[in-house]
This record gives sequence, structure tokens and C-alpha cells, in this order.
Amino acid sequence: MNSFRKILNGKQVDIFLLKNKNDSEIAVTNYGARVVSWMYKGIDVVVGFDSIDGYLSSTEFYYGATIGRYANRIRNAKFMLNGSEYHLQENNPPDQLHGGVNGFHNQVWDVEDVRANKIALSYLSKDAEEGYPGNLQVQLHYELTDEDELRITYVAQTDAATFINLTHHSYFNLNGQGSGSILNHTLQINADKFTPMDAGMLPAGGIASVAGTPFDFRQPHTIGERVNDNEEQLIFGKGYDHNFVLNNNGKFSFAAKVVGDRTGIVLETFTDQPGMQLYAGNFMRGENTIKGGYKDEYRTAFCLETQHFPDSPNQPHFPSVVLRPGDPFNSVTVYKLS
Ligand code: GLA
Repeated sequence: MNSFRKILNGKQVDIFLLKNKNDSEIAVTNYGARVVSWMYKGIDVVVGFDSIDGYLSSTEFYYGATIGRYANRIRNAKFMLNGSEYHLQENNPPDQLHGGVNGFHNQVWDVEDVRANKIALSYLSKDAEEGYPGNLQVQLHYELTDEDELRITYVAQTDAATFINLTHHSYFNLNGQGSGSILNHTLQINADKFTPMDAGMLPAGGIASVAGTPFDFRQPHTIGERVNDNEEQLIFGKGYDHNFVLNNNGKFSFAAKVVGDRTGIVLETFTDQPGMQLYAGNFMRGENTIKGGYKDEYRTAFCLETQHFPDSPNQPHFPSVVLRPGDPFNSVTVYKLS
């Protein structure tokens, strides 16, 4: 696909196809280490573009991207580490969102290895890039298994203490991208708690029970059933855009299940990360033309961003996100279709 071949920042951008024995196919580009499409039984369940230009003109939506160095928000775009204060690029003033304007989503990754059903990409995030300390080397593996799983493995090393939080930002629509609202999709989340936000969408500080709130997805509910409730958290988030505290004790386990109402396609998510941001497309405005000539209309996709909690560098009671030289960083998230 020539529309994906381009030189950006002096590096070659391209598109790669992963296939399995069920004829499922995932397309990946090394620009932002993004998933461009995921074809399952003839249905494309990931929102994306027909060309690299579509991604370049919509960077603030993070379509399909790998997010780093710190996924989600950091209050006032700053933190203290080892007694020094670090100032980050403020792309969501006064805060930083998703690693800054030139976060990992907006970098051309190096292609290390390409196989029939997997690809290995890497990126060296240099010391001081977007304000972060330390040279951070990241390896990312995407594998499409014969069980129709997209298995994402992250490995990283640093040469100076830094903060790290990596996530995946595919926008899913299990009825097929471009097919309209996701509000009738049924959602279940393995979380007893979530981290409530303040009016600026930063963690208010506490950890709250989901019981009796529109955030209780321990039993399945449609995404739309309560999304417009007159409830403070939903007002602050403009809908669902919240971090759930997964019931996993840091062990790889089930995080969420979503069912498309028109296709019956099921997406299950598994992770070793302690949190997951549910983002249900509240900022989609129909201003970008996605694959097939459709528009990215309001709430026509959802993201399940497995991650550490937002603003953890400034919230000492949240699980630690510091990575020191010699520390291993290894994380796995699986999205499975059936
Ligand atoms: C994340 C954020 C949202 C929004 C989207 C991209 O999910 O939590 O607030 O910024 O990315 O539009």
C-alpha cells in the first residue's frame, strides 16, 4: 500500500500485514507503532485511515497508537524524581497527555523483525525528549495468534531513573469501524474500584468503589445505559474517560469483555497492568475521514487502554511507575476476538 510509504524524520514509514490460519489480518504501521486495521471474519474492528496522511493530520486522537513515555495525564506537566523537578511538554495545558506532542505515537519506530504473524519494533526515546530524564530503549512486539489474539509485549530499559507508562490506543467498534454508535455494545470490567477525576480530568486523589455508580461494570451493561446520567464523574469526563483499578494484583488476568450488538463479535482484554482507561469516544467529532470514507463520529468507538494509573508520578499512593537503570520492564496485554 503506497499510501503508507513515506519518509518522515529521515526514516522510512511502511505498513505490514500480520495473518493467522483463520484468515484474520492485522495491519500495522511503524509510524507511532500503530494498528491500522484488524479484519476478523470480514469485519474491520479497528478505526483507522487509508493512508499515512490521515494519521498525520489527526495526531491528537492517537488512533491505533502506542502511547509513551507516559500514557494518560500528568498534572501541570511536571514531577519530582530523585530530588529534581522535571518539566514536561504541556500539550494539554496545563497538563501533559500521552507523552506530549512528540510522544511515541508521533515517532517513526525502527522495524527489527517481520514474520508472517508478528512484528518487532523498537524506539529509542532520548534523554530530555518531551522533558523526560534518561535514554529509554523500548521494544514492542505485536503478534496475531491462531486464537485471534493480538498479543502486545513491551520491554524497556533506561540509563537513568525515569517514569514510564505504556499503553495501546486502538479505537474498537465491534460492529465494524464506520458502522455507527458503540453505545449498544455490552461491556464488562473486572474492577471493583476506579480513580475518580477532578474537573480537569486528573485523578482527584482517591480510589473509590464502583458500587452503586455508572462505573460498576462488574456485571455486563451497555456502554450507553448510564453514560448520559447526571453524575459528576460523567460530567467531568464528558462521558466515560476513566481509569479502572483492575482486580488483578499485578498478575496477568482478565480485564474486560465487550460484545458488539449487531455482529456478536466479542473482544476480551487481558493484562498485567494495574489499571485500564475506558475511553468511549467522547472527543470524536466526525472531522476525520476514516477507512471506507466514513467519518469518525461522536462515540463510534471505544478504547481499553491498559496502563498504570494517571498522574502516578505525582501520586505516591498509586503503584510505582519509576524505572531505574538495570530494572526490567516487561508487560503484556492481549486483545482477543471471538
Ligand atoms: C485518552 C484520553 C482522552 C482523550 C483520548 C484521545 O483516552 O483519556 O481524554 O484524550 O485519549 O482523544
